[in-house]
Amino acid sequence: MPQDNNTAGFNPIDAILLTLEFLAFLLKAVVRFVVSVFQLIVPPPAADVSGDIVLITGAGHGMGKCMSFQYAALGATVVCIDINETTNSETVAQIKLKGGNAFGFICDVTNREQVFEVTKKIKEQVGVVSILVNNAGIMPTHPLLQQTEQEIRKTFDINVLAHFWFLQALLPDMLTRDRGHIVAMSSIAGLVGLNNLVPYCGTKFAVRGLMEAMFEELRSDPRKPNIKFTTIFPYMVDTGLCKRPFMRFPNLLKLVNPDEAAAAIIDAQRRGIVELSIPKYVLYLNTFMRIFPLRTGQELGDFLDSGVKSDL
Ligand SMILES: NC(=O)c1ccc[n+]([C@@H]2O[C@H](COP(=O)([O-])OP(=O)(O)OC[C@H]3O[C@@H](n4cnc5c(N)ncnc54)[C@H](O)[C@@H]3O)[C@@H](O)[C@H]2O)c1
Repeated sequence: MPQDNNTAGFNPIDAILLTLEFLAFLLKAVVRFVVSVFQLIVPPPAADVSGDIVLITGAGHGMGKCMSFQYAALGATVVCIDINETTNSETVAQIKLKGGNAFGFICDVTNREQVFEVTKKIKEQVGVVSILVNNAGIMPTHPLLQQTEQEIRKTFDINVLAHFWFLQALLPDMLTRDRGHIVAMSSIAGLVGLNNLVPYCGTKFAVRGLMEAMFEELRSDPRKPNIKFTTIFPYMVDTGLCKRPFMRFPNLLKLVNPDEAAAAIIDAQRRGIVELSIPKYVLYLNTFMRIFPLRTGQELGDFLDSGVKSDL
């Protein structure tokens, strides 16, 4: 006679074990919550990066350039990558002038073949990269119907697909050495949808997703690899990327200085912080606002009245 699967398998021992497992989960959740609140007040110590090889994409300008200078000042060997040979060489030259250690490589990060060729050269000429900063990005700023197919594809190629190519090129050695840290630049546009930035927002939400999934994939890996992840969500940073910014409350949401942004990113990486917005409170505010109906978040956005005007 066929058995009823719902009742035939009931075993009181299993039920007790399941309950204990669930209670252990609840206990861990409480402990993790308390620890993370404590770490808001007393952050974990910052790691020494002087023995690290840090690869930064988009090192010729903006935050990539500032991060290159600051990592070099901390004693790291910096590998500067950019499509722009002139600005990338300037970054490398300025680091060397101050006695730092830097190497420059020209690469279009959207070209998977070039990424694999250049990372092979880096391994031979510099060594194994231990910190990857996927930073290069572009931001075409106008309504979707005025964005060309080429612009949309290019935005995804640089802002998202390039992350995959560098991960595929560099993760194997990080796994072999059981040591590595991936830093990725998302944006406030990766937390909320913004006017004039439909494709850009799509790419920056994607960065959050790919980083979270990559973290999860390695967490499930039986080798339990020692690879860390940090995703950064900056508000508008004064690099020239936001061409026509506007803001109602400049004291609350002002254009961030690129040096300050770079310092906050490096600090988060060194302390192993998984997600950081710049300013810090925006990520908490966004998480909190997600409890409310979408419309409330939109109305808060209307009240704050900040963003970027079309660059056309
Ligand atoms: N500036 C902001 O307000 C802001 C805010 C949030 C997030 N972000 C993100 O932070 C990152 C850095 O922004 P930024 O303002 O410093 O940028 P930036 O425009 O100052 O510099 C970007 C660098 O990337 C390089 N680059 C562009 N395409 C490339 C390619 N195909 N291959 C290699 N290099 C390429 C450029 O030559 C340039 O040197 C980007 O991902 C951006 O989306 C910026």
